[in-house]
Amino acid sequence: MLPTWYDEYKKFIDESIDKYLDLYFTREELTKWLLQFKDAVFYSVKWGKRIRAILALEFYLLFSWKKFSDLKFNDDIVLYCISLELLHAYSLVHDDLPCMDNDEYRRWELTVWNKYSENTAVLVWDLLNSMSFEILSDMSDDVDVKIILWYYGRSVGLFGMLGGQVLDLYYENNFEQLDLVKLIDVHNKKTGTLIEASIVWWIIISDKFDDITKYMEFGKKLWLAFQVKDDLLDVTWSLSQTGKSVWWEHKWFVYFLWEDKSKNYLDQLIKDCHELITPLKSEKLDFLVTYIWNRTK
Ligand code: IPE
Ligand code: IPE
Ligand code: MG
Ligand code: MG
Repeated sequence: MLPTWYDEYKKFIDESIDKYLDLYFTREELTKWLLQFKDAVFYSVKWGKRIRAILALEFYLLFSWKKFSDLKFNDDIVLYCISLELLHAYSLVHDDLPCMDNDEYRRWELTVWNKYSENTAVLVWDLLNSMSFEILSDMSDDVDVKIILWYYGRSVGLFGMLGGQVLDLYYENNFEQLDLVKLIDVHNKKTGTLIEASIVWWIIISDKFDDITKYMEFGKKLWLAFQVKDDLLDVTWSLSQTGKSVWWEHKWFVYFLWEDKSKNYLDQLIKDCHELITPLKSEKLDFLVTYIWNRTK
């Protein structure tokens, strides 16, 4: 069971995302076809664990000394959380497409292309992508949007998420060239950079650079742990337990390290994560690390 604070954060983020989308779609009167498209967009962002936004929120609260109960929809951090989740959702819609991973299930539901159509999924992904950047322009003058855009764009571009996806596809077809070091690099780019961006944006804009490399390392290690766990779940679990399509041939950590050493590697990463955040004395962050370790979905 998740703690109350996690449910509260998640509810707040879910409601903020819905509010942003509602406002977005009322900019103009929608025709019947656009209303159907709107359904697909709402569907594509539903049911996520919201880990990126929750990490961003918690780091913001720790560094700004603000309280969760003070947060409002238009706050810069809230806009950033919405952006993160829209961006993450687009990456999943894209990743599940028949021409990519060809997955039929995600978050215990049909994937967007499978529920609607392939071309709808491509257009949903396009819109989520552009919205995730447009929303940053709504931030207040307190924030240097230029630096955010630079850092954020870099996290999802060729040297971040997109580059990781390119490498992922490459190694799928050239598996003999892959080794553990390259695999870690693929994961750091594919997913680690967005986690890093979730964590450090507030540190960057508030000029609180002490220990920033430590927290960047925390972000990378946390998501490596997530990926190792994903591979271990793929070995032992099925769609009904993980809520998404499971591919046996994709469990690359287990391929290189076998099950036992993968578990040891996961334990070490989790231990490192706890140590890296010890100075922050945050029970919530500690919970998130343990949650990733124990998760079953
Ligand atoms: C899953 O991420 C996909 C990866 C980036 C590995 P999450 O497990 O955070 O996805 P949701 O948002 O909770 O479905
Ligand atoms: C998804 O990676 C990564 C991105 C969407 C950037 P995977 O393909 O390995 O993750 P799942 O198993 O579909 O969640
Ligand atoms: Mg993939
Ligand atoms: Mg996939």
